Amino acid sequence: MRDGRLWIEGCEVEALAHRFGTPLYVMSEDGLRRRFRRFQRAFGDRWPEGPVHVLPSLKANYTLALRRILSEEGAGADTFGPGELHAALAGGVRPELISVNGSSKDDDLLERALRAGARVTLDSVRELERTRAIARRLGLRARVRFRLRPRYEALTQPSDFVEAETPVREVAQRYKPGIPTDDLRGPGREALHAPELDVSGVMVHLGRHSTDLEVWRGMVRSFVELVADLSAGWDGWQPREVDLGGGFATPRDPTGRLGARGSARPPGQLAPPIEEYAEALTGTLREEWRRRGLDARGVALEVEPGRSLYADAGIHLTTVRGLKAQREPLDWRWVETDTTEMFLLDSLVEHNRWTPVVAGRADAPPTQRADLVGISCGFDVVVPEAELPDVAAGDVIALLDTGAYQDATATNFNALPRPATVLVHGAEAEVVKRAETVEDVFRRDQVPARLAGGLPPTAGPR
Ligand SMILES: Cc1ncc(COP(=O)(O)O)c(C=O)c1O
Repeated sequence: MRDGRLWIEGCEVEALAHRFGTPLYVMSEDGLRRRFRRFQRAFGDRWPEGPVHVLPSLKANYTLALRRILSEEGAGADTFGPGELHAALAGGVRPELISVNGSSKDDDLLERALRAGARVTLDSVRELERTRAIARRLGLRARVRFRLRPRYEALTQPSDFVEAETPVREVAQRYKPGIPTDDLRGPGREALHAPELDVSGVMVHLGRHSTDLEVWRGMVRSFVELVADLSAGWDGWQPREVDLGGGFATPRDPTGRLGARGSARPPGQLAPPIEEYAEALTGTLREEWRRRGLDARGVALEVEPGRSLYADAGIHLTTVRGLKAQREPLDWRWVETDTTEMFLLDSLVEHNRWTPVVAGRADAPPTQRADLVGISCGFDVVVPEAELPDVAAGDVIALLDTGAYQDATATNFNALPRPATVLVHGAEAEVVKRAETVEDVFRRDQVPARLAGGLPPTAGPR
């Protein structure tokens, strides 16, 4: 903020809205680079045992220009499905730093991954067998890792993913990814000796159940317990790579799935900084590794941040179209905008509570409480009961922390064309993903010839 106006790097936000139109996603190149470097430093400084690789989770934002920035920084990638593998390769990720993750990979994806030299993070024994067969056919040695399913028995803290108070361990056990341990024991042991496979490590992703660091420590304890158990049954085999996944919260942490248990984080209370996550994870990993008689020397540590890397490097801009207020029977106010929850889907999916800032009067104190609503036909409450200063039609509102998952999950409901993404670099700004047109929305439609001819005279009004 400068002189009461919102800026992103060297660009005034209101001017960006006028130049590129709204709704609009805006990302900061410098913000993304700084966050990546901070991640790399936070874990690198705390894990001298071996290399540290940060593998940004592409699902959070697969815009190619952003991916090129991260590739310039030396980042790897966590990918899911053929589209994200394509984005990683087109975005310049070194194949040996790609993890092809996800349940139910088909043969085509496995073959593409192996041909590219990417690592496959295996999700089932069936996938292990198919990967082995494809590698044999291609005459390749596939680098694979096992995605594990620790027991998480000590994680009795409530999960933010469900409204009713439910322990993390229970919610995590219902989550589908990973190889059931009993399935893995025999085939995993055999895989270690398969000439077509190089089993380089193990992977786990608990996800954003909690910002309580004790949950994260417990996750690592349970994970290492399982690694040690497998190691004992596999003649002392030890992973060269340990990938602890993502799920770290971005500081303002808009995640609102707590729902009935207290909505979003109270204003001013931040989630732990990444250094504290790094301390909790690496400290526990080191301790448990030693306690279980494993050797950490040379072990590569990987993490897969999604939201915590991209979210607060981005904002979403919208323009106020009008105001509406009612006294009776319910006293209520709405600020109508030109965006929609369909372009900010975590308003619905994770009940995120976005922070709205009026770009031209960022320091104005709140004077009203109103629902910030969108253009789709649903309730479309982008921010429920937002505390806002006086606003008028034409004002630009920036919604903070929207750089992760919002463009990636935007939908065309109501046949709405999705917004552009603009990348800010110092005082420059350019479109890195153009806005859709109405024609784009209907580009996949095919009207059969028998329905494409002349229509009968309409039975419209006479
Ligand atoms: C395997 C894996 N890694 C990383 C992530 C990123 O998670 P987050 O955005 O919560 O950091 C996800 C998200 O679903 C994931 O499934």
